[in-house]
Amino acid sequence: AFEMALAQTGITVQVAAGQSAVAALHAAGVDVPVSCEQGVCGTCLTRVLEGTPDHRDAYLTEDERAANDQFLPCCSRARGRLVIDL
Ligand code: FES
Repeated sequence: AFEMALAQTGITVQVAAGQSAVAALHAAGVDVPVSCEQGVCGTCLTRVLEGTPDHRDAYLTEDERAANDQFLPCCSRARGRLVIDL
């Protein structure tokens, strides 16, 4: 499990083990567009302001992963707490 703080919305969303980040966002009423939900299309790309994503997608390049400034919440998770630009 991990926590996401939404910088624009001003809420904190908990992501349970076994739940996707995007499912937790939708459950909290936050609209994030999705398409493939498998980490390949890039539709759900979300900016990361703080924290370290646990990238599990097949979309970002190695350099993009290493920058830790965006992630794909349909499949990726986080180590600890993320602050995201939503
Ligand atoms: Fe396709 Fe997230 S919905 S990468």
